[in-house]
Amino acid sequence: ASLRARNTFRVDARAARLIEVDDARALPDLAATAFGDGPPMVLGGGSNLLFAADPAGTVVALAAKNVEVVADDGGDAVLIRADAGVEWHGLVMSMLRQGYRGLENLALIPGTVGAAPIQNIGAYGVEVCDRIHAVEVYEHGAGMARLGRDDCRFAYRDSVFKREPDRYIVTAVEFSLSRSTAPHVEYAGIRDELAAMGVEHAPDAAQVAEAVIRLRRRKLPDPAAIGNAGSFFKNPIVPRAQAEALQAEHATLPVFRGDGEATRKLSAAWLIDACGWKGHRDGDAGVSDKHALVLVNHGNASGMQLLDLARRIAASVRERFGVALEPEPRVIGAKW
Ligand code: EPU
Repeated sequence: ASLRARNTFRVDARAARLIEVDDARALPDLAATAFGDGPPMVLGGGSNLLFAADPAGTVVALAAKNVEVVADDGGDAVLIRADAGVEWHGLVMSMLRQGYRGLENLALIPGTVGAAPIQNIGAYGVEVCDRIHAVEVYEHGAGMARLGRDDCRFAYRDSVFKREPDRYIVTAVEFSLSRSTAPHVEYAGIRDELAAMGVEHAPDAAQVAEAVIRLRRRKLPDPAAIGNAGSFFKNPIVPRAQAEALQAEHATLPVFRGDGEATRKLSAAWLIDACGWKGHRDGDAGVSDKHALVLVNHGNASGMQLLDLARRIAASVRERFGVALEPEPRVIGAKW
């Protein structure tokens, strides 16, 4: 089966075998009878992966799309459970319509609910782990299980699911949301966008979602219009002294909080932009002219061509700034 319509880079990869699973409870039986040797590859919205080669073995897609309110006593806190196959942005908007806040900063992120905890999606000051109560999984060789938030070992664009890719299949996610928590508007771009919308103070969650949507539409290429997987590189976390030395030399380099006092996070987009890559194109593999962190497929680029471009970008940033970049999407069929 062609996977071209199942990955947002629109790379023409092929699966020897694709199984759509309607009910995750069938996974233990399928693992015993249908997956062949070893864990299958699981495909959600395909918005965070690059097929550098065809996936080996079976590919599984989880089709269940139920969303249910698990607990709501009429007070502030609500517990929501969504199946892995639910489209992410649809969930964000339907929660807001029901008066449940907490996911608004994560509006318009492509992909599915099942993929969200894997790379711990984040934007505009919120990471999905801030809202996760538990993650339901199938654990290969063990059975169905449920991991509490702390067992998921979330970090910046990272989790146990990303670190141990062949261990679990995420089948559903439980979210802790709120009726009244004030939205997060620390990110300056969101405050500016709200001001441009005429919202001066105390924005509600729906207005924050609208600001996020406007900002993303303007700053990021639309995967429906041009193949891409969002940010291709993580923002690199470096020792604080290195960040300070770089900033002394390059005053406009954005530097953010790291994962503690000893580190700082740098803007990968700025580093790539400074090396002149924004809008660059080699055949159909290119760098977005809207955002330097986003690789784009202008039509028929292969995964290998996109990966080759990514490697050259990383090499030039390493040479010029001494900083190593790592891909954010999962690369299938090749080593970084
Ligand atoms: N910049 C440039 N050139 C560009 C684009 C940006 O120099 O072409 C500089 C600007 O100075 C800008 C800074 O980079 O102020 C940061 O840019 P932006 O606010 O777009 O954020 P980012 O660090 O590039 C991260 C996430 C995004 C998320 C935004 C907003 C990562 C890898 N990416 O991007 O997530 O939407 O912050 O919170 O952490 C994604 O993961 O796919 C994604 C889009």
